[in-house]
Amino acid sequence: MSIIVNGSGTLFTLKTLHSVYQMKVDDRGFLRHLYYGNEIGEEDMSFMHVDYDRSFSPNPNCAFPVRGYSLDVIPQEYTSCGLSDYRVSSFGVINGDGSSAAEFHFVSYEIRKGKYQIPAQPAVFDEGGESETLAITLEDPVTGLQIELLYGVFEAKDVITRAVRIINHTKEPIFLTKAGSMSIDFAYGTFDLIGFHGRHTLERVAERTPIEHNVKVIRSRRGQSSHQHNPFVILCGRDATEDFGECYGFMLVYSGNFRAEAEMDQFGSTRLTLGIEPENFRWKLEPEEVFDTPEVILSYSSRGLAQLSRNYHRIIRQNIIRSKYRYARRPVLLNSWEGSYFDFDEKSLLKLAEGARDLGADLFVLDDGWFGVRNDDNSSLGDWFVNEDKIKGGLPALVAKVNDLGLKFGIWVEPEMVNEDSDLFREHPDWALQIPGRGPVRGRNQLVLNMSKPEVRDHIFNMISKVLKESNIEYVKWDVNRNVADLYNEQLSPDRQGEVAHRHILGVYELLERFVTAFPDILFEGCSGGGGRFDAAMMYYYPQIWCSDDTDAIPRLAIQHGTSFGYPISTIGAHVSASPNHQTGRITPINTRAVVAMNGTFGYELDPAKLTEEEKTQVREQIRFFKEHYELIQNGSYYRLTGIGESYFEAWEQASEDQGEALLSIVITDTQPNAQLIHVKLKGLDPAARYSMEVHADVDERILAIPDYPGTSQLKEFLDQEGRSYQGAALMSGGVTIPWIMGNYPALQLYFKKAE
Ligand code: DGJ
Repeated sequence: MSIIVNGSGTLFTLKTLHSVYQMKVDDRGFLRHLYYGNEIGEEDMSFMHVDYDRSFSPNPNCAFPVRGYSLDVIPQEYTSCGLSDYRVSSFGVINGDGSSAAEFHFVSYEIRKGKYQIPAQPAVFDEGGESETLAITLEDPVTGLQIELLYGVFEAKDVITRAVRIINHTKEPIFLTKAGSMSIDFAYGTFDLIGFHGRHTLERVAERTPIEHNVKVIRSRRGQSSHQHNPFVILCGRDATEDFGECYGFMLVYSGNFRAEAEMDQFGSTRLTLGIEPENFRWKLEPEEVFDTPEVILSYSSRGLAQLSRNYHRIIRQNIIRSKYRYARRPVLLNSWEGSYFDFDEKSLLKLAEGARDLGADLFVLDDGWFGVRNDDNSSLGDWFVNEDKIKGGLPALVAKVNDLGLKFGIWVEPEMVNEDSDLFREHPDWALQIPGRGPVRGRNQLVLNMSKPEVRDHIFNMISKVLKESNIEYVKWDVNRNVADLYNEQLSPDRQGEVAHRHILGVYELLERFVTAFPDILFEGCSGGGGRFDAAMMYYYPQIWCSDDTDAIPRLAIQHGTSFGYPISTIGAHVSASPNHQTGRITPINTRAVVAMNGTFGYELDPAKLTEEEKTQVREQIRFFKEHYELIQNGSYYRLTGIGESYFEAWEQASEDQGEALLSIVITDTQPNAQLIHVKLKGLDPAARYSMEVHADVDERILAIPDYPGTSQLKEFLDQEGRSYQGAALMSGGVTIPWIMGNYPALQLYFKKAE
């Protein structure tokens, strides 16, 4: 049983394989958070908490005459508001009488088989009855406002999900001003907060900072989860490393404005809240109406960050992704964007596709520029019909020709946007988000369609469905190339305008749901100028998301490293592009670009005709290698072996769950003379087994020929040796040593296979 309740129905213990989460109703009816962490047997953890009369921390009315009881101090499971808890709050309300207080007292609980549902929102799903739900109802005794705290316990997966259902049982309309999905109080311990910040072309860089006596806020107000911050944060002990120490993950399954707040209070306790960003959020609830918050996925690891990441990788792969490509093999693609940008016609596209076929790709993707009169990024978004000036005979003919080459065909769309220079905008200017009396905000010269309007969604669905039905399209890249502004919907009353941002993203979900239902065989890839909407909610619709518009393998190391903390490799869209790189001008070997792109979904985004014959041979071998090790690379247990910038190389590893094989990848980022040798300890192997080792590297012959290269013989021997095998324990405790390699950003892969 994963949910245990004591005889008096006041102590709730949620158990997963390696964690325990506990809360208790106290004498005054408040739900206290007692504990989240490692196994504790059957203990009631109340003994850890002691109440004191704390000056300047007032006492709630129901505590009178006790002075040693204050909401400002006790660890709570979800906060009340406006009544003397001065720490960050998870909830805010304006009641019918204009007051902004709510004091939530325990009413009842219920245990349900399976996972609770959140209507019309993406959430973790239960497969085969693997979870249980605990629903705890709290109520404000003065107004009657109710909240239901929902917990989904996935015991075997070490995951607990949380969401809140707010029910206006009061007699008047109320306004929610903050509707957090969760809060949690850690009475003891000092923590670091790991967040994932960035910008366009540098997303999800891990940043670890101590939580001190202030409030740290990580948030997006951009209408999407954003390039700048990700709705995933980790609290970890100050001493936690990849393989050691306590770590807690909190991942919001939401793609809109969000806020995570971490506060260390005056007595050293730490509170974390996570949910919809409250700024500009004001949701009117009529009597008996309900508001469902998005969900948070919580996980705990007592064994460091790597285990925490693997918990998230598994739950996303198995319980968020629904596409038929969840487990099915995904095609290796060649995308036209960096190969031809807007400059193409039918002939040049077919040439690209032929090149893709000759290299061994499975899918050709036609990116931006095929519709309306779009020859640059100033027009035509919204006009989802083919530009016959560029593609004679239309898409069906082109798709058929690409299929005849033996390739699947995929297409790019950006359905949530419109250009003013488009038929759609000329016909329906009121479909774009705009505030009356103000000129629109433009981004990439485009406006955002108001997805909170059903007629807009219907139109987009019909128009794009037509394109998808007319031809044999087997993949769709769904892009979003600006942030949301101008929040307004004239169909809503003035007092409901604070609902538009959330209604907009609910509209996006509704539209995506229609597409994935109507086209279950299409592989959808999400995108927002790279990784501007890289979140678990989007993975409910798309099994993979283009990770970044920076395709330079070297900065990609930091991007993909940060992304890997929360998201599995199989979700991380990554391509080999041309050199010099189009974003940075950096020149890297094609082998290195492939090693890095293989730490993701793997594909190409270049003009094959511009590759040398030698490079083409290498690409064919890369694709063959990737396909041979597909399962291991995409679904193996993931290990970050270095931190970004800690050394002059980066290393990571995938090991199969059955410990039968492993792939170690190493990229040298800063070649040095007379360098310290690269030494890496493997992880996730069977200590008692022997493993053969194959080296895959591409060391430039010209470098080996440098007369005074002091490492030539050692390196040659390392590269050429065959029939090597080592004990798993030796590889993990001793490690492998890579002879000194020179050159520009060399990379290598070592493949280990358990002896039969
Ligand atoms: C942004 C995407 O991230 C790119 O890959 C490309 O599709 C462009 N948009 C096209 O406009």
